[in-house]
Amino acid sequence: LATLDPVSASDLAALEDVARARLDRGAYDYIAGGAEDEVTMAANVAAWSALDIRPHVLRDVSAVDTSTRLLGTQVSAPVLVAPSAMHGLACEEAEAATARAAARFGTIMTLSLAANLSLEEVAAVTPAGPRWFQTYMHRDRGFTRELVQRARDTGYAAIVLTVDSPALSRRGRDIRNEFAPPSHLRVPNMPPAPSGDALDPDLLALAAAFDPAVTFEDVSLPTEWSGLPVVVKGLVRGDDASRSIAQGAAGVVVSNHGGRQLDGTIATARALPEVVEAVGGRGAVFVDGGIRSGTDVLRALALGADAVLVGRPILWGLAAGGEQGVTAVLTMLGEELARAMAFCGVTRISEIDRDLLDWADRPGRR
Ligand SMILES: Cc1cc2nc3c(=O)[nH]c(=O)nc-3n(C[C@H](O)[C@H](O)[C@H](O)COP(=O)(O)O)c2cc1C
Repeated sequence: LATLDPVSASDLAALEDVARARLDRGAYDYIAGGAEDEVTMAANVAAWSALDIRPHVLRDVSAVDTSTRLLGTQVSAPVLVAPSAMHGLACEEAEAATARAAARFGTIMTLSLAANLSLEEVAAVTPAGPRWFQTYMHRDRGFTRELVQRARDTGYAAIVLTVDSPALSRRGRDIRNEFAPPSHLRVPNMPPAPSGDALDPDLLALAAAFDPAVTFEDVSLPTEWSGLPVVVKGLVRGDDASRSIAQGAAGVVVSNHGGRQLDGTIATARALPEVVEAVGGRGAVFVDGGIRSGTDVLRALALGADAVLVGRPILWGLAAGGEQGVTAVLTMLGEELARAMAFCGVTRISEIDRDLLDWADRPGRR
């Protein structure tokens, strides 16, 4: 199993370099890449850096606490593992390694529908670790119903319903590489591929099971079926967020799928304030896309997010050092957040607010 040398774990960019060297080209590009010209993917990262911080000084910051509560779950920091497909591409232990690292750090692991381990297998590895399960709405509603009931029965605390994938995006890197997942990988939570038990090398065939006819009326179904709260993932508009909450969602994730769906979609940092305002405290607001430092986490919280999800950096950690690598990523982000809070004169998550940013609606700002 991969071991992590301390130098490469010094920052996220270094970890990505290690991951790039360890992964084959197709797998690296599948993870790193985005849709079309990758404009949104780059914009996500840039939009966080563009938010200037206005730190306070001379406040007692001798004890900084990054812990918080999210939909009833206590976490050590508001940094969650985003759902991402096929961790077996990055590490032999696949999602088991990621889940262990998340549990050890004390945060929520969101298991993807397209994981290489079943939701029962991951639950067995981290029975007590907080876990959410991500799915799409399948054309066969009965299939989705069984999935969310299995999730409930094995201790997942929420269902993340991803809604930004009504069509298949075009990812140039995968096309150029003729990327197909290695044949030993399985996706046991997904409906059986038309070709049988093995993972269909044509990922598109699998995604054909997702229902493009899904609407706001369907948002409450996973809760009706399982009693679990639903978090709607993959919206960037206040009206859509408001409607999701009105239809029974417990929260939303402001997300453009890391720039992997519609290229040209607004960067999530720019979409977040409108969503926070529209939700108006009626539900939880999460955000992902381009979060690459603890300072970015602080910026997201300052704009009103309750927590962030992290996608690619988790996979770089996994490829660079398995469970240890994921732990390094989460620890780095948690420590950076604590440091940024100290610099800003805040000691608790609830004290982070928009006043810490040089924001357009701040009085006196042109
Ligand atoms: C390799 C990869 C696979 C992903 N698979 C899924 C998935 O199965 N379901 C889902 O809802 N989002 C998926 N996502 C999107 C992530 O949940 C998240 O929205 C995105 O990665 C956040 O952006 P970031 O990578 O810049 O942090 C995937 C992202 C990546 C990079």
